[in-house]
Amino acid sequence: MSAHKIIIAIDGYSSCGKSTLAKELAARLGYNYIDSGAMYRAITLYFLRHHIDFNDSAKVMEAIANITITFAFNEKTQSSDIHLNDEDVALYIRDMIVSEKVSQVAAIREVRSFAVAQQKRMGRKKGIVMDGRDIGTAVFPTAELKIFMTADPEVRVMRRFKEMYATNPNITIDEVRHNLELRDYIDSTREESPLHQAKDAILLNNSSLTRQEQLDIVLEWTKDRATTKVAG
Ligand code: CDP
Repeated sequence: MSAHKIIIAIDGYSSCGKSTLAKELAARLGYNYIDSGAMYRAITLYFLRHHIDFNDSAKVMEAIANITITFAFNEKTQSSDIHLNDEDVALYIRDMIVSEKVSQVAAIREVRSFAVAQQKRMGRKKGIVMDGRDIGTAVFPTAELKIFMTADPEVRVMRRFKEMYATNPNITIDEVRHNLELRDYIDSTREESPLHQAKDAILLNNSSLTRQEQLDIVLEWTKDRATTKVAG
């Protein structure tokens, strides 16, 4: 089989399992996985640490000029760790403090231009799976495979609650629900690249699918789009 590499764009609502699917897909295909949301979270972490006023464009621009985001492949976890100015921030960016502000930060035009420019560069060589909110609509509008993921809101709340509870036993289901609802609202209604399904994206509702089932479905779609070399 020829190793014709493609771009796979996965978009969708908060906490519907995009990263889980994207990571597994990339591993099977031997592609790079990039979590674009992690970039917005890292930028938010920087803004919070440096007390940047989100409404002050000049301060936002100045802060962005001081930010470098890199992804380093971690052999142990078989996925990429995100570094903010050379610091591994993977753990901090999942905090509720960051989740509470990230959609506000991601709605800022200057922030998006900065992140999208880097994301486009990362896709130059293809062979990439990227997940986010605007990957199929703004970052890679010509991606060979676009998936728009969704799941029932309560399923999403419980999945995220279990995930967060593992590191923060003080978290409540209501807090998680409120955060997901708020982010989905801001992400879908913002002016800059709002979250919506691209015309040519395939809808995938994974409410009642196992990880393996969703992976198998998407691997079939991948085969349909390109003759790719599937590892394993
Ligand atoms: O994993 P989860 O669904 O909680 O979200 P995420 O992928 O970590 O993204 C966090 C936030 O970043 C989203 O709620 C959006 O506000 C923003 N984001 C975005 O605007 N564009 C992207 N391509 C990815 C994330």
